Amino acid sequence: MCGIIGYVGARQATPILIGGLRKLEYRGYDSAGVSVSSSGASKVVRCRGKLAALEEKLLKEPAPGTTGIGHTRWATHGRPSDENSHPHKVGPISVIHNGIIENHRALRNELAAAGAKFSSETDTEIFAHLVERALVGSADLAAAVRKSLARVRGSFAFVVMSDKEPGTLVAAKNSSPLVVGLGDGENFVASDVTAILSETRKVIFVDEGEMVVVKASGVVVTDFEGKVHPREPKIITWSAVQAEKGGFKHYMLKEIHEQPRAVADTLVGRIDLEHDDVLFDGIDLDVTKIKRIIFIACGTSYHASMVGEFLVEALARIPVEVDLASEFRYRDPILGPGDLVVAVSQSGETLDTMEAIREAKKQGAKVLAISNVVEASIPRLADYAFYTHAGPEIGVASTKAFTTQLVAMALFAIYLGRRTNKLSKERARDLLAELVALPTKMREIVESGAQIQSLARRYGSAIGFLFLGRGSQYPIALEGALKLKEISYIHAEGYAAGEMKHGPIALIDENLPVVVLAPRGPYYEKVVSNLAEVRARQGKVLAVATRGDQDIGSNADDVILIPDTALELQPILTVLPLQMLSYYVADFKGTDIDQPRNLAKSVTVE
Ligand code: M6R
Repeated sequence: MCGIIGYVGARQATPILIGGLRKLEYRGYDSAGVSVSSSGASKVVRCRGKLAALEEKLLKEPAPGTTGIGHTRWATHGRPSDENSHPHKVGPISVIHNGIIENHRALRNELAAAGAKFSSETDTEIFAHLVERALVGSADLAAAVRKSLARVRGSFAFVVMSDKEPGTLVAAKNSSPLVVGLGDGENFVASDVTAILSETRKVIFVDEGEMVVVKASGVVVTDFEGKVHPREPKIITWSAVQAEKGGFKHYMLKEIHEQPRAVADTLVGRIDLEHDDVLFDGIDLDVTKIKRIIFIACGTSYHASMVGEFLVEALARIPVEVDLASEFRYRDPILGPGDLVVAVSQSGETLDTMEAIREAKKQGAKVLAISNVVEASIPRLADYAFYTHAGPEIGVASTKAFTTQLVAMALFAIYLGRRTNKLSKERARDLLAELVALPTKMREIVESGAQIQSLARRYGSAIGFLFLGRGSQYPIALEGALKLKEISYIHAEGYAAGEMKHGPIALIDENLPVVVLAPRGPYYEKVVSNLAEVRARQGKVLAVATRGDQDIGSNADDVILIPDTALELQPILTVLPLQMLSYYVADFKGTDIDQPRNLAKSVTVE
């Protein structure tokens, strides 16, 4: 995730900016830069790579001045490079930005037609051009930013500096976090409180749709129309380590809570509500030539691929196979023209998946990568890349990377379905509307941790768990079991509910908690029968069901109710309580949740 810091005061800005960016390093980034202004002449120094590279560059090209902005970039639009690093400077304007400008393509075309020259591939540079144009004949930076904000859609936190108005920063927020730090004769702005905690503990958290004018003498918060919002500062009592985790006990819990935002970011720029369609920018697939799709992936990404199988077959009626990447090439797969291989990997670096791609390419198949990390090895090796934009995931156990992969699968299936004509415009419209509604429903679930925490206490001393699901809930049962194993070290099995009677039923007694995924839908009655089979053998049933289900309570020992959504999208909601259950069980046991024993975030060995 990109990081933002800004400073206005009497001290030299560069060391403060670098110090703040260093506090954000843990979030991951691929380039960094600063723009520092001395008496209205700003200098930008930026480069690809780590902060050490930027510091080295600054030794050769110092940037003196007492007002400045700094940024660490995690690539979304445009590869990691010197040119795509922030700040972007256009005329007197320097801009840093977190988030995604949804209508960047249309704005770029419009600005290019009006003579704008671009020096990067980023969506951010567009905003610098807009502000520069809005400032012609005026020196009022806040007014120019306000005018430009009216042109952009998407998620953003911007900080803008103008050579025409020295000693002023203007920041604006929509969806991406932004905080202002209040000092004595100096003020700060940042994407995270961590970046400014060593300078001040007095902060204002900027709300959605707010703009802030930051000067050394004071800070004014307004809405995007300029109406002043009086705000009381808060005093932060978190330690620096707590602040890195956004006040959460672990990165995993923070990332669980970030999922509504992450999913919203996956959707940005991908939904065309006017045509009830999905936009796959830069992916030039000839869908009519696809006869079969083969997903290859490992671990959690493999479970996302299994859900992808359901979605693509249901919505596009294209046959799908799902392979463990580590097994793919050893079974001497038969590939031919008409096969599209989809490699799914949050890190984009998993060696097993890379080797499977090499095998697929050797046999002439086209490869689409679904990755969270822009320009990682897997998307670079593939013919096409779709990025999930979940932001860096620090907890080893994947959470937001998984739900955003599921959203990618849904978008992919709708995209294919519209082109194979197996998905009607009306159904696509309904599904797209449901996708847009997901972040709100996800927020409801992740904010209802207290019930799951008490269930975790009740079941957390069990020595094993069984997770059951049917249809597209089966991969979610597998994912629930994997999550629990990974971080609590409790043995857990995920099973297709109908398979229980073919073996695992022998395990059931009063000591085995069985987590059953029973959302509304075509398999509901059958799942309830499976649940009765468990209870008849004294097994303890914890059911995840749809809000409004009147019957489930009499069939289960405990029930977690979640909001309803389209059948095809239910896995994106049902997995959330399972992630939370695993988290709280592990927390109850006191394991090292963010770095579980024996596991690595990127598995780059075979
Ligand atoms: O980065 P990838 O998605 O390719 O990683 C695949 C697996 O190693 C990964 O999903 C692993 O299972 C995670 N620890 C799951 O939480």
